[in-house]
Amino acid sequence: MMYKSLLRPFLFSFEPETAHKITFCLLKIFKFFPFFALLSRYRYINDNTLLTRELFGLKFKNSVGLAAGLDKNAEAYNELADSGFGFIEIGTVTPKAQSGNPQPRLFRIINDKAIINRMGFNNRGADHAVENLKKNKHKIIIGGNIGKNTTTSNEDAINDYVYCFNTLFDYVDYFVVNVSCPNIKDLHKLQDKNSLIAILEKLKTINKSKPAQKPILLKISPDLNEEQLNEIAEVAIETAIDGIVATNTTTTRNGLSLSQNEIDKIANGGLSGKPLTEKSTGVIRFLISKLGKDYPIIASGGIMSADDAIEKFKAGAKLVQIYTGFIYEGPELIKDINKALLEMQITN
Ligand code: FNR
Repeated sequence: MMYKSLLRPFLFSFEPETAHKITFCLLKIFKFFPFFALLSRYRYINDNTLLTRELFGLKFKNSVGLAAGLDKNAEAYNELADSGFGFIEIGTVTPKAQSGNPQPRLFRIINDKAIINRMGFNNRGADHAVENLKKNKHKIIIGGNIGKNTTTSNEDAINDYVYCFNTLFDYVDYFVVNVSCPNIKDLHKLQDKNSLIAILEKLKTINKSKPAQKPILLKISPDLNEEQLNEIAEVAIETAIDGIVATNTTTTRNGLSLSQNEIDKIANGGLSGKPLTEKSTGVIRFLISKLGKDYPIIASGGIMSADDAIEKFKAGAKLVQIYTGFIYEGPELIKDINKALLEMQITN
């Protein structure tokens, strides 16, 4: 209520990237006023133990997470946790800091409840993220989404993933290998079987050398064809990774009410939100048909309502993540999904 009637109109009166900066400023200011955190927790946190989920050895307070890309530098995960999330994925982080693509690179398409972004992994680097993670003990499960620097070639990409994995290892609870961002030139090519096996096997070897292992997941694009998805399923089996995040944003423009001219004007970028819902759920259905109904899939893509989330669970997802839905609906969406889960007894 408060978000949609007060905060959203205020934030939406700014350019999207400015609104993002204002949000983070506000979250930082709120840190000094425990009253706001208390109020937020009181309004949005649902502590019902029926909502807890166990997946790949981790215990999640509830099954609604924040998708990667919002808290790229691990700056505000505890404040965001006060909105009711069960887990938060920080990143994508890369070894070195990089500024990403030139602005404008973030576009709201309000009529379609969508966003197009070509941020391009703007982040302050893995070491900086660790500094932030060290400062604030986290209250909920934190995932580390890792990628490669734009200037690193695909041949050398493995070193970037290894660097991020080692750097973040002690400070996050699980990892997501991101090879599916459409805004880094040729990154998607790392989704071919050989490249994936090389990266994942390397990370698994390092993982095994640690006293306690961390789950490793793979985040994939919704734009893979059936043959490519079959390969992903084979990779998941061969490498025995812990799960798949399905999906990232799409480069397609289906489902938008914009004219071709308007679409061309926005130009490149990944589309998220409502137009992505069905496409992304289709990927989950396909993977579940290949990997079995118990395979750990985290759904991400166009969850704009509790019904959308329920569809993802019905398709076989074990957890869900939101990004665009959080921008349009605010913390109320997390609350609604958890309420619907309790009502439908889809929990444990
Ligand atoms: C993203 N997303 C994203 N994903 C990722 O793995 N690493 C990243 O750095 C980012 N960055 C990012 C920035 C912005 C502005 C958006 C809108 C999205 C993708 C995000 O995590 C999610 O997978 C998709 O947006 C689909 O979910 P929604 O937004 O439809 O709920």
